[in-house]
Amino acid sequence: MKAKMMVADEIISVENLSYTYMSGNSYALYDINLKIHRGEFVVIMGPSGCGKSTLLYTFNGIIPHLFRGKMSGRVIVDGIDTKQSSISKLSQIVGMVFQNPETQIVASTVIEEVAFGPENLNLSIEEIRARVEESLAISRLSGKRDFSTASLSGGEKQALAIASVLALKPKVLALDEPTSMLDPAGAALVSSIIGELNKKLGMTVIAVDHRVEWAVNVADRLIIMDEGKIVIDDKPSNVFKRFDLVRKIGFRPPQVTELFYKLRDNGFSVNDFPITVEEAEGLVRWVLDD
Ligand SMILES: Nc1ncnc2c1ncn2[C@@H]1O[C@H](COP(=O)(O)OP(=O)(O)O)[C@@H](O)[C@H]1O
Ligand SMILES: [Mg+2]
Repeated sequence: MKAKMMVADEIISVENLSYTYMSGNSYALYDINLKIHRGEFVVIMGPSGCGKSTLLYTFNGIIPHLFRGKMSGRVIVDGIDTKQSSISKLSQIVGMVFQNPETQIVASTVIEEVAFGPENLNLSIEEIRARVEESLAISRLSGKRDFSTASLSGGEKQALAIASVLALKPKVLALDEPTSMLDPAGAALVSSIIGELNKKLGMTVIAVDHRVEWAVNVADRLIIMDEGKIVIDDKPSNVFKRFDLVRKIGFRPPQVTELFYKLRDNGFSVNDFPITVEEAEGLVRWVLDD
């Protein structure tokens, strides 16, 4: 009975997962254990090559079905063992958005791009239309439905990639460094759409992202990886309390947190480590008050 209730709350469960690429000579992932709950906003961080993308690929079946390396352990997505399923089935549960919007767009107009996925799902015309309209609205592209995809800005192209994935009605949106190739305005647009999907529509979001200041503000949980392992998995406020570990793995904290680390290094009795400017202001206010 208890086990059943727990399954309902978890959308993704990773158990003792290790993975080696066919051409790799060491583990890309090593003994990963992880549960992601419905409605959570999780940000995965860590140095280049630590296994972030590889971990995402295990959520929608790219691993083990497309990359045929050596996988041990289990990944359960919405109650389904990914080994027993297929990429096409899993990609309707976990939608994936990649770094480069250019490589994800296949159609010549915005509306064709968003309709492409649902048209291949054998749905009624009405259902396809409804999905396309809804996805365009969430991605703020309703006014550009007839535009050529080539005419969109980088941020809009990434918004279009998100819309195309949403049209498949996935339960989870996984994004692999979705803003790293965008200019600041494009990154802001995409971040805002992702935030709204989670906060307003309750969608489960898993994002790999390097922007720590952004992550601590939006994430329910930060997962920090290093060398194929999860080294920290906690609420953002708890992550940066562990300054010894954060420093040992060379992870860059938010700048405002770094200031408090430095004050502590210099002998000040700092026990609280703020992660946002607002929290820091609360802490220093009394010092400046006299
Ligand atoms: N297709 C591949 N074949 C062999 N090794 C790979 C492949 N893709 C990634 N790797 C290796 O797996 C490890 C994890 O890579 P990746 O998941 O891409 O890291 P990250 O996304 O954190 O930068 C790295 O050592 C990388 O070189
Ligand atoms: Mg990567």
